[in-house]
Amino acid sequence: MQKVFELSNKNGISVSFSELGGRIISIKLPQGNSFVDIIAGAADSDVYLTQDEYAGAICGRYANRIANAKFDIDGKMYELSANEGNNQLHGGLDGFHKQKWRVEDAQLEGFAGAYELHYLSKDLEEGYPGELWISVIYALNEFDEFFIQFSATAAKTTIINLTNHCYFNLAGGGTIRDHYLQILADKFTPFNHLKIPTGELMSLEKHPLDFRNPLLLGDFLDKNKTGLDHNFVLHAFDDLIFPSVILSYPAKGRSIEISTTQPGVQIYTAYHFHAGMRDKAGNPMQPFSGIAIEPQNFPNAPNIAHFPSAVLLPGQSYQQTIRYSFKYKR
Ligand code: BGC
Repeated sequence: MQKVFELSNKNGISVSFSELGGRIISIKLPQGNSFVDIIAGAADSDVYLTQDEYAGAICGRYANRIANAKFDIDGKMYELSANEGNNQLHGGLDGFHKQKWRVEDAQLEGFAGAYELHYLSKDLEEGYPGELWISVIYALNEFDEFFIQFSATAAKTTIINLTNHCYFNLAGGGTIRDHYLQILADKFTPFNHLKIPTGELMSLEKHPLDFRNPLLLGDFLDKNKTGLDHNFVLHAFDDLIFPSVILSYPAKGRSIEISTTQPGVQIYTAYHFHAGMRDKAGNPMQPFSGIAIEPQNFPNAPNIAHFPSAVLLPGQSYQQTIRYSFKYKR
């Protein structure tokens, strides 16, 4: 049985997560005298042991794909565990999503509640060089904002890319077809048949992936049968003032605004969800039952010189933040 922790604020929002992978297993928004759970996934944290899909988890040491599961630092080649053909996806077979995180209560001024999660990744774990100390803060305030702050330091030069892999569904069930998506990006990174970027930063001007104005996902999915699984290049809003992605469900007046310090966001509409997977009510899942919005560095950045650097030097501190701001009608 995994230990589960909960944060809540006085407006009635609550966020719960498991020590296993730091997985966010529910975010409940008030609705009348009850609530709606906007995280698509399993009801019980133990189900994630078998029904994984990285749902809600902290992904690392390198979230997303690394071509041929290798990269070099200063001429020295490192071989990683390959878990998607020859490539590595989301940190390998036993990436951070599978690890047990040590969870501590954190007192943060201005927050209704906070926890700090710790994990020590060993030298050469999944092939990555250098011990890495990671701490992740989950914090909820009274303004209906939930923050994830990633910090890490390394003993040797290494690479890093951390994100959270929540699947959202603002309807609390069914698909995301009635949701609108807006992404403040005017470029994306096209990829090959193995989903490895070609290296190009392609303009979204007059492109079907231009989400700068909100698009109804149902309309998009009618034209794009496998949906979205793309990395968008974000404007750098390091101060977190402006949202980079807005997901909304007008039928119930709910939305999430996501701000981040990260240079990209992978958007994945869960095409591979299937009837063998159960949702929180125990019903079979289907493609497009949720949407993962994963602020992060670009896929395969360690092997593409003009992508933002993923290198972390000893003595440096890796710091990235995601802010989720919830809007809802009671
Ligand atoms: C990736 C998908 C992958 C999924 C697994 C996403 O972040 O972009 O390609 O299938 O994770 O849950």
